[in-house]
Amino acid sequence: MNYNKKTVKDIDVKGKKVLLRCDFNVPQDKATGAITDDKRIRAALPTIQYLLEQGAAVIACSHLGKPEPNFEKWVKKQTEKGKDPASLTKEKWEKSLAALSLAPVAKRLSELLGQEVVMAADVVGSDAKAKAAALQPGEIMLLENTRFEKGETKNDPDLAKAMAGMADIYVSFAFGAVHRAHAASAGVAAYLPAVSGFLIQQELEIMGGALANPKRPLVAILGGSKVSSKIGVINNLLDIADTIIIGGGMAYTFAKAQGGSVGKSLLESDWLGYCNDMIAKAKEKGVKLLLPVDTMAASEFSADAEPVLCDTMAIPDDMMGMDIGPKTIAAYTDAVKDAGTVIWNGPMGVFEFPAFAEGTRAVAKALADTDAITIIGGGDSAAAVAQLGYADKMTHISTGGGASLEFLEGKELPGVACLLDK
Ligand code: 3PG
Repeated sequence: MNYNKKTVKDIDVKGKKVLLRCDFNVPQDKATGAITDDKRIRAALPTIQYLLEQGAAVIACSHLGKPEPNFEKWVKKQTEKGKDPASLTKEKWEKSLAALSLAPVAKRLSELLGQEVVMAADVVGSDAKAKAAALQPGEIMLLENTRFEKGETKNDPDLAKAMAGMADIYVSFAFGAVHRAHAASAGVAAYLPAVSGFLIQQELEIMGGALANPKRPLVAILGGSKVSSKIGVINNLLDIADTIIIGGGMAYTFAKAQGGSVGKSLLESDWLGYCNDMIAKAKEKGVKLLLPVDTMAASEFSADAEPVLCDTMAIPDDMMGMDIGPKTIAAYTDAVKDAGTVIWNGPMGVFEFPAFAEGTRAVAKALADTDAITIIGGGDSAAAVAQLGYADKMTHISTGGGASLEFLEGKELPGVACLLDK
């Protein structure tokens, strides 16, 4: 895949209307709707400010959450979740949509920019179109949640065309959504000159560089709960990395495959053969594959559970693995010391419970201390690094969860492929 894409700096945006795809999929307080973390809004500021300073009029757009824009489908989904169909009124459905309005984002963006952000009441309806037509250079507006449109997740060409019709240029800033072949992430690029904003450029340069031409040795640390969700990443990295380190819940499926006993630990029995194949493949390719040699276990999945050290991967039947053990920590942190590049995706244990956060903390600290280029592949690992206080010590923390995973899998990302090559 070609990561060398044109950016906003490669085109003249003066006097143009720019449709700017942002990732304003921000976490909100369930009860009040207040934005609990505005990192994604702040991350958009450099690109927005650049465009406004260059004399562009910015029509920002984004999805937020997973609204269901079809009332019948919403009723079906809620019924499947066990809700009483008689209670599923149109008013409730409208309320569920209203809770995912981007209006609070417009307000926060306006505070951060220090200028008005005009909020449209729809995506491609009469309000959005009128406001887009009236928008002047140096002004910014925000369209309503793109997923309020039925055609968005289907990548409907009519919706893409209607969005594109309001602008002259498409700039994608939303790395978090580049793995989605949706109308606002990829479809619109068929109708407008399409380039990347600063964030995508940075993600492509750093992560793309680490995969295409890494400073060696390249160490990949993979954790998280399921082997099945990391198959693509392991497969791809076996061709690229010098060392692959496995931790987190998925390590217990590897341990079982290797003849260990894992008690009540997370286990994906269907993937035992795959784990052994991966171990054999690593040997064949000369890739060092490190697996846990000890574990911290507990009798129940609870923050108050008493941590019990299992000195080998022989976990008693009534216990479950919750974190890597001290010998494993020593081996893993040692492997990071002389690395040229470290890519980390997925925590080493249940880091949300302080008693089982040590493995994840030790790995985060090792990454903070090494001179290697350190790349954190989004989602849980980004949250872990931030929670443990090491975020500013990393070379790069990807803003994409699913997107960075698919990037590490070596997949073509529709939201990147649609941009103009340099
Ligand atoms: C994210 O939060 O990872 C991105 O915004 C993508 O969101 P999605 O998984 O709802 O497409």
